[in-house]
Amino acid sequence: TLQPTPEDKFSFGLWTVGWQARDPFGDATRPEVDVVESIHKLAEMGAYGVTFHDDDVIPFGSDTTARDERIKRFRAALDETGLVVPMVTTNLFTHPVFKEGGLTANDREVRRFAMRKVMRNMDLAAELGAKTYVLWGGREGAEVDVAKDLLASLDRYAEAIDTLAQYSEDRGYGLRFALEPKPNEPRGDIFLPTIGHAIAFISRLQHKDLVGINPEVGHEQMANLNYTHGIAEAIWLGKLFHIDLNGQHGPKFDQDLVFGHGDLLQAFSTVDLLENGSLTGGPTYDGPRHFDYKPLRTEDMDGVWRSAAANMRTYLLLKERAAAFRADPEVQEALAAAKVPDLRTPTVGEGGYEELLADRSALEDFDAETVAQRGAGVTRIDQLMIEHLLGAR
Ligand code: GCO
Ligand code: MN
Ligand code: MN
Ligand code: MN
Repeated sequence: TLQPTPEDKFSFGLWTVGWQARDPFGDATRPEVDVVESIHKLAEMGAYGVTFHDDDVIPFGSDTTARDERIKRFRAALDETGLVVPMVTTNLFTHPVFKEGGLTANDREVRRFAMRKVMRNMDLAAELGAKTYVLWGGREGAEVDVAKDLLASLDRYAEAIDTLAQYSEDRGYGLRFALEPKPNEPRGDIFLPTIGHAIAFISRLQHKDLVGINPEVGHEQMANLNYTHGIAEAIWLGKLFHIDLNGQHGPKFDQDLVFGHGDLLQAFSTVDLLENGSLTGGPTYDGPRHFDYKPLRTEDMDGVWRSAAANMRTYLLLKERAAAFRADPEVQEALAAAKVPDLRTPTVGEGGYEELLADRSALEDFDAETVAQRGAGVTRIDQLMIEHLLGAR
């Protein structure tokens, strides 16, 4: 069915529907939205969770009384609606104090403040039952390469994450950390710019088992990379801890479109991978289907709520289309003809490379010219997918 329910595990950042649509060239086009209203609206629409930056719920600089009051209102809205908080993150990018970086700022005072800001919000995350803590390093980066010690930046980044992980362990918070790659914007170049960079970085951490990634569709596509391939590698490595679904039209500024409203074909393969992709044909990811998008600046609040619903409906439509694609006997036949299932068979037999060396058909008698003439049969599969996507099958 296309009616979202909590079992679908759809979650939204409060900053998405709450975005007032300020951009570098123009003022806000929409009023401030009360988080309590967002929680109620999202619950009515069938979402199961909300996520937030500290500053989305508690304005930067609030004193203890104001802070407690905000948290109380927020918790009451969660209790009233049954929405959960699967993930929490920190705003280390809006306030001018972070203009030169947060966890990797040259200024040690800024780095120490950034750490404390994260730790304070981890306390709240744990209290609310969050399982995942996201770190998007929007200001971790540089415009001027020689004004940054690039190797020291990575040392400080690793130090910060390992310290935060240790804090979570010592306090019994049980959080897992998810680094969110992005190539650029707001910084000219952001550290850990892609899924690959982030995963390689994690391998050097002391607490590497507690750290994975939160890849966002548009961020990989801004770098002209294939998102579905990226998350496949993350799944293979056991590092897909969380996911940010949205849309993007290729390498340009971060569009944060509704999921599926950018590269629709890649959205199809992403949903197919998440829902049907494992060796046994089952789901490959059981975490929240989290939307991190920005309602178009052109929209009023009616358009905002429509865009929230559109994310979930598009996901469910793609899930339905992907299931139909997989169940279609002609698709199965086309996949078999293209030898797609054969890729699961190990290349080398039981005897290891000795078996391979003894097999004359693998080299001495191998007829490369004849084998090279075989078509791969991929166009047929491509068109079958398109026909399913367009509702023609
Ligand atoms: C972006 C990022 C951010 C982060 C979010 C979590 O679009 O550049 O997605 O939205 O995901 O702020 O910290
Ligand atoms: Mn983005
Ligand atoms: Mn994101
Ligand atoms: Mn975003």
